[in-house]
Amino acid sequence: MRNRQWLLKTRPHGLPSPGDFELVESELSSRDLKDGELLVRNRLFLCAPTMRNWMSGQANSLFPVQPLGRPMMAPAAGEVVHSKHAAYRPGDRLTYFGSWSDYEIIAPAGGNVSRVADDMSLTEAMGPLGLNPQTAYFGVTRVAPPKPGDVALVSGAAGSTGATAAQIYRLLGARVIGVAGGSEKCEWLLKTCRLDAAIDYKNENVRDRLKSLCPDGVNIFFDNVGGDILQAAVDHMARRGRIVVCGQIASYNDDATAEGPRNMMRVVYGSIRIEGFLRSDYLEHVCEAVGRLREWMARGEVVHRIDIRRGFSAAPAVFADLFNGRNAGTLLIEVDIKS
Ligand SMILES: NC(=O)c1ccc[n+]([C@@H]2O[C@H](COP(=O)([O-])OP(=O)(O)OC[C@H]3O[C@@H](n4cnc5c(N)ncnc54)[C@H](OP(=O)(O)O)[C@@H]3O)[C@@H](O)[C@H]2O)c1
Repeated sequence: MRNRQWLLKTRPHGLPSPGDFELVESELSSRDLKDGELLVRNRLFLCAPTMRNWMSGQANSLFPVQPLGRPMMAPAAGEVVHSKHAAYRPGDRLTYFGSWSDYEIIAPAGGNVSRVADDMSLTEAMGPLGLNPQTAYFGVTRVAPPKPGDVALVSGAAGSTGATAAQIYRLLGARVIGVAGGSEKCEWLLKTCRLDAAIDYKNENVRDRLKSLCPDGVNIFFDNVGGDILQAAVDHMARRGRIVVCGQIASYNDDATAEGPRNMMRVVYGSIRIEGFLRSDYLEHVCEAVGRLREWMARGEVVHRIDIRRGFSAAPAVFADLFNGRNAGTLLIEVDIKS
């Protein structure tokens, strides 16, 4: 079968551009399968901001490095076409650690492949019940659960992970302030996600807004962004505040590593806890997360928006939209293979 692939050709400087990638086409055959492997047909890719970190090529023991000249690694969903693995059959629907290809060969091992439940669509498995909402669920319920009346501040609040985290905080009794770019996103946070307040960081002074919205400080900061917003939050934390470091997207396109807050003595004097986490720290609790998210979404208590873009050939350009805020919710690429 003909197989298109987007290879990473050069390591991006700044925002990744289509020129950093190369679209190639080759032949892939099920004869290439070895024992224990599956040939899968990719249907959906999640645009995950951290893929930009993989592209940077900086040696890091904690996240994968994308090799040059190889298809761009990405969270994917699709179905088995051929199997040489006793536990999988053609037609099985899966999510996995894949790559920007029409088809690919994967070897299930160490939790890199998950089955999609019969009553779930691939879009649900990658969107409302997928990696990002699960991340939000664990960040809120495990890393920094709120006490009633806590002020929870969420950055990247109109995004896939942030919007879910903000709404779970609201459901668990916090007073929630979301930070997002632009009036459309802030209005959506107020009207649809029913947050208590929204700060448009592109048009408002975050520090001034924090002072007037929560004069007694922020109890929990769920950070997806880092940079100036993290600094403003650290300077405005209440005593014994908790900072959940979920992501630092503001720095992913820098050629330097993500900077921490400058005033660490505020952290000392405020007895503030800063804790990073990964969704994968909680793999044994994924069923719980999916079950609760499903329940909340069915009752309309948590809303989720997905932004699906059709067409494999646009993958690099679509991915870049994460970094200029042009995505409205979970950003998915739908693969358009001609059968
Ligand atoms: N720890 C984990 O296991 C884990 C898992 C999944 C995701 N994450 C992290 O969660 C964060 C959100 O990821 P997502 O997939 O849900 O993406 P997303 O929030 O749906 O999309 C990214 C959003 O980030 C905002 N953004 C981009 N550049 C920015 C900048 N310089 N300053 C402020 N905001 C900026 C944009 O929103 P605006 O329009 O509001 O600017 C953009 O829409 C990322 O940091 C990601 O790495 C962590």
